[in-house]
Amino acid sequence: MSTLDGVTDLADDLSLLRDLERRLLVYKFAIEELMTKLRILSEEFDYVHRHDPIEHITNRVKKPEGILEKLRRKGLPLEPDLIGDHLDDIAGVRVICPFVSDVYRVSAMLARQHDVDVLLTKDYIATPKPNGYRSLHLIVRIPVFLSDRVEHVKVEVQLRTIAMDFWATLEHKLFYKYDDRPPADFVDELMSSALIAAQLDERMESLHRRIHQDDR
Ligand code: GTP
Ligand code: MG
Repeated sequence: MSTLDGVTDLADDLSLLRDLERRLLVYKFAIEELMTKLRILSEEFDYVHRHDPIEHITNRVKKPEGILEKLRRKGLPLEPDLIGDHLDDIAGVRVICPFVSDVYRVSAMLARQHDVDVLLTKDYIATPKPNGYRSLHLIVRIPVFLSDRVEHVKVEVQLRTIAMDFWATLEHKLFYKYDDRPPADFVDELMSSALIAAQLDERMESLHRRIHQDDR
């Protein structure tokens, strides 16, 4: 490759990045809409049932560099118009709930909303990943009303308990997306930590049930 080719590639990349950036705006709006929906569910459920099913919520829009990297890694076309067709996780919302029952409750309340289309559900709580990862993942699509059109935008919603989040956050720090394979005893240790987190969820859930028995 000549130096000139390198410069052209760089210029192509820069204009691609700028184009991507412009297209990411709508994902930010979709996140804002979902955040509002979730905040309303949290506050209203708390008011009616004296229990807030949401502990906290985080969100992010994938960075243009991250999008390009993922498209390249998966051998997908570097075409800004098509990113929404190829990637489900450009917009991401993570909902941390106190109890496992809250995870399913929030997910059901969201899915019932007429303008929320659930395209895909991955229940890694019912069926944890081989490494022990647990969470409920939804790919939803919601309408975003712009000045001259409506766009239907996909958002990846990850719902998990505090215990699941504790495990996933630390596992991510330790291993996730690292190429080098961790030693076998690390893998075993992580798996058994995931089981402890799951047991903790069960024990807390049963305490929660006892305390809220009178409210039913
Ligand atoms: P990606 O290509 O990584 O997005 O995975 P996928 O399309 O197969 O979807 P999946 O539902 O398996 O994972 C989506 C997201 O869930 C990831 O980007 C992470 O945020 C989270 N996740 C999935 N597996 C793990 C895991 O083993 N550990 C941690 N910490 N997070 C995970
Ligand atoms: Mg992802």
